[in-house]
Amino acid sequence: MPDIDKAAGAITTEVVESFRDTDDPRLRELLGGLVQHLHRYIREYRPTLEEWERAVEFLTAVGQKCDDTRQEFILLSDVLGVSMMVETVNEQGGGTESTVLGPFHVVESPARNSGDSIDLMGGGTPCVVSVRVASADGSPLAGASVDVWQCTEEGFYDVQQPDVQPLGNGRGLFRTDGEGRLWFRTVVPSHYPIPTDGPVGALLEATKRHPYRPAHIHFIVEAEKHRPLTTHIFVANSQYIDSDAVFAVKESLVVDFPTVDDQETAGQYRVTSPFRMAEFDIVVEPETEEAAR
Ligand code: BEZ
Ligand code: FE
Repeated sequence: MPDIDKAAGAITTEVVESFRDTDDPRLRELLGGLVQHLHRYIREYRPTLEEWERAVEFLTAVGQKCDDTRQEFILLSDVLGVSMMVETVNEQGGGTESTVLGPFHVVESPARNSGDSIDLMGGGTPCVVSVRVASADGSPLAGASVDVWQCTEEGFYDVQQPDVQPLGNGRGLFRTDGEGRLWFRTVVPSHYPIPTDGPVGALLEATKRHPYRPAHIHFIVEAEKHRPLTTHIFVANSQYIDSDAVFAVKESLVVDFPTVDDQETAGQYRVTSPFRMAEFDIVVEPETEEAAR
C-alpha cells in the first residue's frame, strides 16, 4: 500500500516550494497559503475524480457566463459569503461599515448634481435620499465623490433591462457640498432575486436556498486622504432583511424610509407629496500613512 499521507504531503511541499522565486512576497505568501488550504481540503474530503470533474465543469460554466455586464464569479463569491468575508477582514472600525460591491457596478454612473433625480423612468412613489459624508472625527468632507446605484421599484437594474430602462437609470455620480452633503430624488428600490439563470442559480437550487436580497441602495464613497468605502443602505422592514442571499446585511446600515406627507417639504425637494425620505450619515476613515505611501 502506498503511504498516501506521505505522498500528499510531498506534493504540497513541492508546489509551495515552486513559488520560491516569486518577486512579490505577498503574491508568494497568498499562493503558498492557497495551495496549502486547497490540498488540506482535498485530503480531508477526498473528492472522487468524477466529483472533481463536476467542480471543474461548474467553474468553467461560471467563467463562460461572464461578459461585459454579467459577473458570475463575483456572484459565486457573494453566495459563498467570500465577498462579505473579504469586506469584514478589511474593516478597520471607526467608519461606516462596508458591504459587498455586487455584480451590477458594471457601467459608469452618469455625473449628476445634488438634487438631481436618478429615476429616469418616472411614475413611481417619489423618494428623497439625503447623505452627509464626514471623516472619523466628525468633520464634514467637501468634494467627496459618491457613486450611487440601485434597482427600480420592480427590482431590476438598468443593465438587466436594456430594452426597458435607459442605461444610467438608478445611477448617479455626485459630489458633496461644503458641508459634506448631497441629496437626490429617486424611487424606493425593491427586494430582488440575484441572477439565477446561470451556474450560481443552479447551486442555489441544488441547496434549496432562495435567491433574494432585501431592498437597498449602493454607495461607493471616495474622499481625498481617506479609505474608499463600498457600502449599501438597506430599507428597514424590507422583505428578506433577515435572510440576504449574499449575507451582506449589517444592522448599522438599515435605514428608515418614512413617508412624509407635507406639501411644503415636498416642494423644497421638488417632489410630490406624499413621498419617502431617507437620511444617512457616512463616515470614512483617514488613510493610514502606510497606505498613503
Ligand atoms: C447587488 O446588490 O447588486 C448584488 C450583490 C450581490 C449579488 C447580486 C447582486
Ligand atoms: Fe444591489
